[in-house]
Amino acid sequence: MTLRISIIGFGAVGQGVADVLMRTNHPVTVVAIADSRGAVVDESGVDLAAALKRKKNTGTVATTDMTAVDVIESVDHEIMVETTPTEMETGGIGLIHIRKAFEMGRHVVTSNKGPLVAKYSELCGLARKNNLHFRFEATVGGAMPIINLSEEVLAGNRIIAIEGVLNGTCNYILSRMDDEGVSYEHALGEAQELGIAEADPTADVDGIDTVAKIVILANSVFGMDAGYEDVDVTGISKITPEAFKLAKDGGYTIKLIGEIQDGTLKVAPKMVPRNHPLNIEGTFNLASIQTELAGRITIGGIGAGSIETASAILSDILWIG
Ligand SMILES: NC(=O)c1ccc[n+]([C@@H]2O[C@H](COP(=O)([O-])OP(=O)(O)OC[C@H]3O[C@@H](n4cnc5c(N)ncnc54)[C@H](OP(=O)(O)O)[C@@H]3O)[C@@H](O)[C@H]2O)c1
Repeated sequence: MTLRISIIGFGAVGQGVADVLMRTNHPVTVVAIADSRGAVVDESGVDLAAALKRKKNTGTVATTDMTAVDVIESVDHEIMVETTPTEMETGGIGLIHIRKAFEMGRHVVTSNKGPLVAKYSELCGLARKNNLHFRFEATVGGAMPIINLSEEVLAGNRIIAIEGVLNGTCNYILSRMDDEGVSYEHALGEAQELGIAEADPTADVDGIDTVAKIVILANSVFGMDAGYEDVDVTGISKITPEAFKLAKDGGYTIKLIGEIQDGTLKVAPKMVPRNHPLNIEGTFNLASIQTELAGRITIGGIGAGSIETASAILSDILWIG
């Protein structure tokens, strides 16, 4: 039987989901796609190539003025894929979409951190109450399968701690400061020119994005009930070339590390031995998982990107199916 899905939010990640479904031959039918201006609905399957082309040419996927909420309420489908922008304080529009999907009896797969940071336990409770799946691998580390690895592949193995490099933008900036001895401002400017950092880089460089990922891991992997305010956070903007020089002389580099250990959640720049697995270069993400039985397991991958993030969404969709 084919799985019917909706894609709510048709930006980089939503379009990536359409793209990976076109490249592969899985029994998944997209019955609706919504962006901020409307939706396209076809219960026998939206023409994905035409939808991508329309979005590129006209700026919207819409052929009707139905909203995302209208789609979730009125179009028959099993899984709602939520890929709208992240809003961490309130959960934003994504929270409204996810609540509505559970109310309508639809499973949810999302890459949107906001609703999970703002309302993790409420949403898990709603999913459980309605006997539905709630999958969110793409929220942490893009293509890097850390949540499903910790919860499923390592089942039976107590996770003692996780530490990771979870923000590609910060890691790029710190790698350039380490390699070239340049200032923070110089490395940030370079990252912005390359499109690695946004014009307003605050969410990345102040550690906010990493905090969100640590909260999601704490709640999902460690069963905590943590929120944004439970994380002790320091960003990277105050790190100087002199600090890098001192670190280098001692055989270290500096990385922005998110960690969960003994119930404590922390995001801060940290000295890492140059030969340590966490010393990865560029925009990569990496996590080191300390387990009770299997020792330390280290996993890395591309932390963002349209197709890479969509690959994590696809695996969650197929897991449900
Ligand atoms: N990009 C990545 O590599 C990456 C990686 C991991 C996680 N994420 C997360 O995944 C989510 C999507 O990221 P993205 O890069 O694809 O963002 P994006 O390019 O900004 O796309 C967001 C999409 O959501 C749509 N949208 C906004 N408000 C809406 C509403 N009320 N109803 C329906 N659609 C609405 C936008 O519509 P318009 O097109 O009409 O503006 C746009 O299509 C974010 O939460 C992000 O943090 C992204």
